[in-house]
Amino acid sequence: MKKSFQIMLFVSLMLAMLFTACAPAAPAAPAAAAPAAAAAKTAKDLTLCYPQLGAESDWRTANTASFKETAASLGVKLVFSDAQQKQENQISAIRSCIQQGVNVIALPPVVEDGWDAVLTEAKNANIPVIVVDRSVKADASLYAAHIGSNMVLEGNRSADEMNKLLPNGGSIVELSGTTGSGAAVGRAKGFREKLNKNITIIDTQTGNFTRAEGKPVMEAFLKKYAGKIQGAFIHNDDMAIGAVEAIKAAGLKPGDIKIISIDGTRGGFQLMIDGWVQADVECNPLLGPQVMDLAVKLMNGEKITKEVLTDESTYYPDKAKELLPTRKY
Ligand code: AHR
Repeated sequence: MKKSFQIMLFVSLMLAMLFTACAPAAPAAPAAAAPAAAAAKTAKDLTLCYPQLGAESDWRTANTASFKETAASLGVKLVFSDAQQKQENQISAIRSCIQQGVNVIALPPVVEDGWDAVLTEAKNANIPVIVVDRSVKADASLYAAHIGSNMVLEGNRSADEMNKLLPNGGSIVELSGTTGSGAAVGRAKGFREKLNKNITIIDTQTGNFTRAEGKPVMEAFLKKYAGKIQGAFIHNDDMAIGAVEAIKAAGLKPGDIKIISIDGTRGGFQLMIDGWVQADVECNPLLGPQVMDLAVKLMNGEKITKEVLTDESTYYPDKAKELLPTRKY
């Protein structure tokens, strides 16, 4: 009896071991799920700071409208301010944006110098800065990208036109933009690079990119150099409008002074239609869509192009009437 019990026990044990060995393995515990990739940010997640430099020209008004309209259509939260052409106001506005914790700052710098401190503050706060329109003289590591016009090329193009208009040379004056601004510096440089040697710039004065200042500057030139001015290189259409008022008031006719202007605004087109301006070199203010697209890329840590130059051309009186209704600014 005892022996048979031992045999049964032995057989049971063997069977149990056999079943355990053949039993299907228990399913492995599921591996810890990989952390879900963060959803890509869209324009609706973007708070963009735009410390606009002022409202000095039709170009600037169009630039502001481009930012406001693009932000509204994409759902971007735009922190907008108007610095009234003062760098210190732009710097305060940037500091306020840093405190608010915006995602990206787009800066149209009124002048080129003096940005290092505030750009460093933005960098330390991990807020990328896109320099818009004019350039800055700062270490390239302090900003993420620059989107705007090639101001030197605009100056080159203006000189090419003046060379064609005054093939036998002559004396010209220059109404320059805001002193120290990337636009004025670049245009003046580019113009001098290409201007024929037989054309002399007899005077240059700033009109701060405004109609109000363009007029008295031209009045003073006409008084000082009466009968000696064959051409004028004017850094924007608003100053050209002011200058033409002064030229008309002095009793001169369209074409007596050959004028090259920059921007390609409706006002500039009208001056070409009326015969006062012989060529208008384009500077495109409609930068809102490009800047906001780039800002979203920066939020997502995507690779971006550091220098994005706007594609521009030159307009002439022969097509001005036909093109005027199509102009957006
Ligand atoms: O920086 C662009 C220049 O600034 C435009 O030519 C001018 O009209 C504006 O005020």
